[in-house]
Amino acid sequence: MNRVYIKTYGCQMNERDSEAVAAMLRDKGYSMVASEKDADVILLNTCSVRDQAEQKAIGKAGHVTARKRKNPNLLVGIMGCMAQNRGNELLDQLPDLDLVVGTQKFHRVPEHLDAMIATMQGQGPRPETIVDLDEEIGSQNTIRSHVEDKRQISAFVSIMQGCNMKCSYCIVPKTRGEERGRPIESILEEIRELVAKGTREVTLLGQIVNQYGVREFPFVDKKSPFVQLLEQVNDIDGIERIRFTSPHPVGFRQDLIDCYARLPKLCEYLHFPMQSGSNRILKAMRRPYTIEKFRHIIEQLRAVRPDVYISTDVIVGFPGETEEDFELTRRHFEEIGFDMAYLFKYSVRPGTTAEPMGDPISKGIKEERNQLLLDILGRSSLARNQSLVGKVEEVLLEGPAKRGEGMFMGRTRGHRKVIVPASDRLVGELVPVRLQSATASTLIGELMLEGIENHREAALS
Ligand code: 5AD
Ligand code: SF4
Repeated sequence: MNRVYIKTYGCQMNERDSEAVAAMLRDKGYSMVASEKDADVILLNTCSVRDQAEQKAIGKAGHVTARKRKNPNLLVGIMGCMAQNRGNELLDQLPDLDLVVGTQKFHRVPEHLDAMIATMQGQGPRPETIVDLDEEIGSQNTIRSHVEDKRQISAFVSIMQGCNMKCSYCIVPKTRGEERGRPIESILEEIRELVAKGTREVTLLGQIVNQYGVREFPFVDKKSPFVQLLEQVNDIDGIERIRFTSPHPVGFRQDLIDCYARLPKLCEYLHFPMQSGSNRILKAMRRPYTIEKFRHIIEQLRAVRPDVYISTDVIVGFPGETEEDFELTRRHFEEIGFDMAYLFKYSVRPGTTAEPMGDPISKGIKEERNQLLLDILGRSSLARNQSLVGKVEEVLLEGPAKRGEGMFMGRTRGHRKVIVPASDRLVGELVPVRLQSATASTLIGELMLEGIENHREAALS
């Protein structure tokens, strides 16, 4: 009764939460399995950010609970944002669910499963469904360290929970609650543990990372708690690269921009959500900045790191987005020249302040606008990759590539994906790669063997 399969939908925060649940379960003697067919317990960690994501998870939960009819011992749970958003109502649709666990209760999953399994093994009746959705003060401190045995070359580390912004389209403040920062020391300790197991790169995760700890921890020498955290992560021996996601333009100040000039491990890469290029729409979205302010931050950043890679999020088809509004988005998107972007078609979310505005923009128009931005992105991303052909970049080798024997996948500091022939012993190493060809999404290269010898010698000396 102790084989668990976890399926994760949505963002990196969810990936990280699933890892934490898996680690806690492993600690308690459960084992994680890679296929749901081998599992006694199936947990779906869900996303609510768009309706489509919820429908996908509901469909999956329907299939999985149907299997309980053949195998009544199977336990099925829904965790995370959709559990929080839909709560008890989920049971109307999926009456066979055993567990519904909200975003502040991940750490309770092991004890709930233990209790259910104990009842079943005592030959008792099928246990009542457990619904655990309350807010919990201090739940950010329950984010436990990774106890993964497997080496993670690149790892995500949650630094905070929740969000206090009130973007009018967004359900996250409802599903993830108030912003709460983890203590710096506990974050650093987790990163040191990761390093001891072979991690070389960390991505600090939060809804608005640059807001990290502003309420809980003081500014020191005009440096925000987030900048202080970056400095301390930069000082950890064994960490070679630092990334973070996502910051908000509000509170993206000089102290953070300066980090790109002075912290050598902070990669020249920034995910910086723009959402729209029209000030009228930004206002309706309750994003408290103008597109000029957004671009000014990018200019300041490029002044200190001219080679910085920038990605973004854009929503098309927000209620009231006219042709003129979209044209502004299109123009700014093209002029900024993003290296990567996540493009979203607006989806009404229940309980958000934009909900009463409905969804007046047709699917066809959203599709068209989305496609126009995708075309621009394809061109700018390809141009950036092509500019690297013939050059040598430092690549962190993460593991075997899906395509072909002997091929390995890694990333440059700018987060460009590189495929290169290599060997297992180089996984986890920073290696120099000469880039030979490029598509918009991938670069192909060859190892600079001489460089590797030097690198290895340097590493050994
Ligand atoms: N509809 C479409 N996209 C959304 N996002 C958040 N809420 C919605 C919504 N209701 C997008 C935003 C955010 C990203 C994670 O998801 O662009 O930055
Ligand atoms: Fe949602 Fe806005 Fe908070 Fe991001 S900043 S999680 S888009 S409310």
